[in-house]
Amino acid sequence: MARILYSATMSLDGYIAGPGGDMSWLTEHLAGENPTAERLLSNVGSILAGNGTFGGDDPNRGTDKEGAFGGRYHGPVFVLTHRPPARPVAGVTFVGDLDSAITQAKEAAGDKYVNVLGANVAKQCIKAGLLDEILVFFAPVLLGDGVRMFDRPGGSHVRLTPIPGETAHWYRVTY
Ligand SMILES: NC(=O)c1ccc[n+]([C@@H]2O[C@H](COP(=O)([O-])OP(=O)(O)OC[C@H]3O[C@@H](n4cnc5c(N)ncnc54)[C@H](OP(=O)(O)O)[C@@H]3O)[C@@H](O)[C@H]2O)c1
Repeated sequence: MARILYSATMSLDGYIAGPGGDMSWLTEHLAGENPTAERLLSNVGSILAGNGTFGGDDPNRGTDKEGAFGGRYHGPVFVLTHRPPARPVAGVTFVGDLDSAITQAKEAAGDKYVNVLGANVAKQCIKAGLLDEILVFFAPVLLGDGVRMFDRPGGSHVRLTPIPGETAHWYRVTY
């Protein structure tokens, strides 16, 4: 059965996007080899993204590196939105509520991961007790402002348990 994983590349001060959704800072940090990202990519069965991510800044737009994993992910994508586009988008299913999106993304993922992209959607998955794992890649930059990797002002702790033998920042969510 598919597990649900939130992955993100985060600035050292905790942001996954800069002010106004700026993602230009990410490009130089994706240049080198990253065995953990490769391992993740080969285990992603579907992507569940928020519309903020789907419609957000992509410095690679218009190139063959556009999209998730620098354009190397080619599987099913589910986008949560209250505003689906009038015209279909190839390979993308637009869904209007979290439960349906999770059900469809899990079914599509088989026994691989549903990779959640977008802090807002990840937070909803945590709130619903649905998120299984979190994987964070760090970018050596301070952005100072933007979209936080996790934002719940006044909220309670979310306990994360390191996965035995795992050297990356890859954790199980403990409810
Ligand atoms: N650094 C990284 O690794 C990384 C990875 C992914 C994304 N990002 C960046 O993070 C930013 C996006 O994150 P985010 O947290 O702002 O947004 P997000 O989670 O990607 O998307 C939030 C949007 O999704 C829709 N949505 C969410 N929950 C819904 C629900 N239950 N039912 C229907 N629609 C729902 C809403 O859009 P509607 O208004 O359309 O309804 C909502 O505004 C972007 O700037 C993106 O580039 C960074």
